[in-house]
Amino acid sequence: MNKVIDLERFPINRLNDPEGIDLIERCKQELHAHGMFNLDGFLTPQAIDKAIGEVKPVLDRSSFLHQRNHNIYFEKSIPDLDPSHRALTQCLTSHHTICADQIKDSVLIKLYEWPAFADFLATVMEKKQLFTMADPLARLNVMAYRQGQALNWHFDRSEFTTTLLLQSPDQGGVFQYRTGLRTDSDPNYAGVAKLLNNQDKQVKSLRQGAGTLNVFRGRYTAHRVTPVVGRKERIITVFSYYQRPAVVFSDEERIGFYGRAT
Ligand SMILES: [Fe+2]
Repeated sequence: MNKVIDLERFPINRLNDPEGIDLIERCKQELHAHGMFNLDGFLTPQAIDKAIGEVKPVLDRSSFLHQRNHNIYFEKSIPDLDPSHRALTQCLTSHHTICADQIKDSVLIKLYEWPAFADFLATVMEKKQLFTMADPLARLNVMAYRQGQALNWHFDRSEFTTTLLLQSPDQGGVFQYRTGLRTDSDPNYAGVAKLLNNQDKQVKSLRQGAGTLNVFRGRYTAHRVTPVVGRKERIITVFSYYQRPAVVFSDEERIGFYGRAT
């Protein structure tokens, strides 16, 4: 794996060594302070090229165009909230998706299945253990955002999201986020409406380079990716791990996300 990950800078396979302990501490501190951490240069330049070479032809030939209108909650309705409330404003998300079963022997799958990677993520997320999914489609996805495509404002339904950026576009495709917008006890619908009306001055932008690993706590932090401008796609990998083994999606979920059940 030392050809794939920069293990000198990010010794995720030596978590009990002083360097590993130091890395874990830094990641945890950043997660606590900013709701995320970024490991810029996590994937080596050779591995980025290899991964792009493996996913790009599949994205070009046989990706699923996943396009949908949604509100920030990805819910049809919110109890006690008037359907006309501006916190429920609909917005469009559009990207091209490929699934793990389309890139079986890729470097990305090898990384996903490397036990040290899951153990590292479990440690920084302070979970006992993380397991790969048994779902042949959902376990790992690669998304491409082409000219005009965007991931619109939303809260994640899972506690953490783990992504690896493979290619950033020339313009646009910027990750934006707004921390502390809601809590378990305060949904702050007025604040959500303000954000969706582009009137929130606390929105921050993050420009990542190719090869950056990002771990993000997105359940309370609203976030989006702005529309891509230009011919160069934004290509990103999403790794899905669970705290229990053998998790699979339902056929309905797979059809919704990927346009097919198997
Ligand atoms: Fe998200």
